[in-house]
Amino acid sequence: MQITFADSLPADVSLIASIANKDSLPEGIEPVLAEGAKRGRFKGGAGQVVDGYVERDGKVVRVALAGAGDPGATDRRANLEKAGGALAAKFLTSGEADIAIDLSGSGLSAEDAAAVLLGLRLRAWRWDEYRTTQKDAEKVSLRNAVVIGVPDGTQAAWERESALAEGVEFTKRLITEPANVLYPESFVELCREALEGTGIEIIVLDVDDMTKLGMGALLGVGQGSDKPSRILAMRWNGGASGDKPTVFVGKGVTFDTGGISLKPGAGMEDMKWDMGGAGAVAGAMVALAKRKAKANVVGVCGLVENMPDGKAQRPGDVVKTMSGQTVEVINTDAEGRLVLCDALHWAQEEFQPAAVIDLATLTGAMIIALGHEQAGLFSNDDTLAERLSAAGKASGDGVWRMPVGPAYDKLIDSPIADMKNVGPREAGSITAAQFLKRFIKDGTPWAHLDIAGMAWSNKPGPTYGKGATGYGVRLLDQYVRDVIEG
Ligand code: BES
Ligand code: MN
Ligand code: ZN
Repeated sequence: MQITFADSLPADVSLIASIANKDSLPEGIEPVLAEGAKRGRFKGGAGQVVDGYVERDGKVVRVALAGAGDPGATDRRANLEKAGGALAAKFLTSGEADIAIDLSGSGLSAEDAAAVLLGLRLRAWRWDEYRTTQKDAEKVSLRNAVVIGVPDGTQAAWERESALAEGVEFTKRLITEPANVLYPESFVELCREALEGTGIEIIVLDVDDMTKLGMGALLGVGQGSDKPSRILAMRWNGGASGDKPTVFVGKGVTFDTGGISLKPGAGMEDMKWDMGGAGAVAGAMVALAKRKAKANVVGVCGLVENMPDGKAQRPGDVVKTMSGQTVEVINTDAEGRLVLCDALHWAQEEFQPAAVIDLATLTGAMIIALGHEQAGLFSNDDTLAERLSAAGKASGDGVWRMPVGPAYDKLIDSPIADMKNVGPREAGSITAAQFLKRFIKDGTPWAHLDIAGMAWSNKPGPTYGKGATGYGVRLLDQYVRDVIEG
C-alpha cells in the first residue's frame, strides 16, 4: 500500500473515507450517509465501518466512515489503528484501487493521523506471491491511499511510522515464507537485501566459525539438516559512540519437525514460523535503521533447521555449549533453548551489551498459560521488565510477566551433564526460561519473551490478516524510543 499526501481531493478518486469518533459523525456528511450509519447501527466504535454511495458534483462516489471510538480512551492509539485497519480490511479486494482518507475536521493530532495510516497500511499487507489462479474478485485491488486535510506535522510523524511499517511487513514476510524458501542462508540474504543502503553492519557466522567457537548446542540442532546453520548479527550504531549496545536475540528455527523426537504430523506446517523471534528481531532492525534511530542496537538471529536424519542428534546426547556448560538433550524438540543458549552467550561475549532481550516461539505451554493475547516475559531485572511492560502497553504488543528463580533449577538437573534441556510437564515455559538464564552473565539485565502464542494468528486482527502478525517489532521499536532514545 502506497500512502501519499495531497492538499485537496484528487478529481479521479471514487472512494473517500473519514474517521468518526464514538457517537459523533463528522460534520457536513450527506444526510443519506448519516441515515445509513444510523440504520446500520454505526456508532463510531473502534473498527466499525459504514459505507454507501452518494452523488457529489454529478458523480457517484463511495463514501465510508471508520470508527475510532472514544477520543478519551486510554487505548486511543490502538483504536485509531483499528479505524485505519478496518478500512483496509473492508476495501482491500473491493475493486477500488485508490482510497482517499479525508481527515479535515476530524480533530486528530499528527500522531493520531499517523496511527490511522499505520493501521491502514499494516492491515493491507498480504503475500499472494504463490497464488497463480486467483479469481479477479479475490485479488487485492486497493493499492494507493491519498490523505488530505492532515494536521501539521503528520508527514513527519508518518515518516517514522512508515519505517516501522516496513519493519513489521518484513517480519510478516519472513514468517509467511515456507521453509523450502526460507532457511538459514536465505534468511540472511533477505535481511541483507532489506537492510541494503541503511549503513547497518552485517556479521554472519557459518558452521566453521561456530565450530571454532564451540557452539555445540546450536550446531547439534542443525546437524540433521541439509541446510547449514548460521548466526546473523545486524549492528546499528545510531547512538553515541561508546554507549553499550542493547542486544536483541531471536530464535530462528526455520522449520521445527521436532527432530528425532518427531512432532505429530497434524499441524506441523505451523512450524515454518518457528523463526518468529528471529523474524521480529530482523524486522525491528529494519525499522530502527530506516528511521535512523539514535541508539546502538544489535540484532542477533540464531538460524537452524531442526530435522530428523541419520546425522541428527539423538535423545540422550550430551552437547557442550560455547559457555562450557554441558547439556543432556532429553528431547530434540526442545531445540529453541539449545539454539538460544549459544546465541546468547556469543552475543554477550561479542557485544558487551547494556541489556539483552531475546524473543522466541519457545514453548507450547506459553500458549496454554496466556493464550494469544500477550507474550510471556521473564527477566532477571525488575527495571528492564517494567520498561518492557510499559513498551508493551504503548505499542499494543502486550507482555505479561512470569517468574524465574532458583526454585525451578532442580527441574532441569541432569544425572550426566550440567543440565537437561527439558523439565517435567509442569511449569514448561518457566523451566525453558530458567535454562536460558543459566547462560546470562551476572550483572547483565536480561529479558526473555516467549512469543509462541503471538507470532501467528488463525484469525484476522486489527493490524494483520490471518497468518503472520508481525508481533514484537513494535514492542522493540517502542522500547528503543522510550528507553534508549527517550
Ligand atoms: N517451537 C516449539 C514451541 C511451539 C509450539 C511454538 C507450538 C509455537 C506453537 C518448541 O520448539 C517446542 O517444540 N517445544 C516443546 C518443548 C517440550 C518438548 C519441552 C513444546 O512446547 O512442546
Ligand atoms: Mn521444538
Ligand atoms: Zn521450536
